[in-house]
Amino acid sequence: MNGDVKTCCATFYESDFARMLLGDSFHPGGLRLTERLGEKLGLRAGMSVLDVASGKGETAIFLTQRFGCEVLGVDLGEENVRQAMARATEAGVGHLARFERGDAEGLGAPDATFDAVLCECAFCTFPDKRRAAAEFARVLRPSGQLGMSDLTRELDLPAELQGLLAWVACIADARPVQEYAGYLKAAGIRDLYIETHDEALAEMVLNIQGKLLGAELMSRLQKIPIEGVDFAKAKQLALAASDAVRSGKLGYALVVGQRA
Ligand SMILES: C[S@@+](CC[C@H](N)C(=O)[O-])C[C@H]1O[C@@H](n2cnc3c(N)ncnc32)[C@H](O)[C@@H]1O
Repeated sequence: MNGDVKTCCATFYESDFARMLLGDSFHPGGLRLTERLGEKLGLRAGMSVLDVASGKGETAIFLTQRFGCEVLGVDLGEENVRQAMARATEAGVGHLARFERGDAEGLGAPDATFDAVLCECAFCTFPDKRRAAAEFARVLRPSGQLGMSDLTRELDLPAELQGLLAWVACIADARPVQEYAGYLKAAGIRDLYIETHDEALAEMVLNIQGKLLGAELMSRLQKIPIEGVDFAKAKQLALAASDAVRSGKLGYALVVGQRA
């Protein structure tokens, strides 16, 4: 199951369909929340930063432009990595933003390599969160900064928000923010600071609902061929997610801390 989930997640986020629904930045709040995270981490020129689960490179490229730091993006999806490298070169920051294929639960970097590690909207999808948190801490230099933004949930969620589709949509294995904090603390990250941004998730879900309707219509009219997508299931999931956000069962939060 763990391997299936990881591969399925990487494959989905490489697809044109994911891009159609989410744009280039695959997390609630987009680059506005990335900037907030970068500020909380105190990023600046000369710092070396690891972006774990870097997707198509939007965050890494932005961080080099906004803060002048050097960023290595690591993602499980080979196509994501290829596209991220091409986009960094196109943006003229290929010397600052690099990308490689890797797994958050077993990073290739040596111990104590980075001044900061960030991970946006992906920790919730890692089947072995304890191991991923330990990897973040391992590759951070002493006193290095860790920043994460992620989906948070209450423990009792409706059945529609379980299962593989919900896992890939970052919902099924999202955890309460205090549980994320617990993994980080256990890995040696201290002085944890938490900030909630549930409104960013509400906005994203609303956006996705609109785009799903548009994509279904285009597919029905055969204007854009979209194969292998079960629109009924996807719309049901989006509706259940929207109800859960409204009732406070799903949310979004930033967590920042420092390696001891
Ligand atoms: C919701 S997207 C977030 C992407 C990016 N951080 C962003 O905010 O735009 C989740 C990403 O996690 C990557 N991913 C999933 N499991 C991974 C793992 N074990 N190691 C590295 N990347 C992983 C997927 O390929 C996908 O790009």
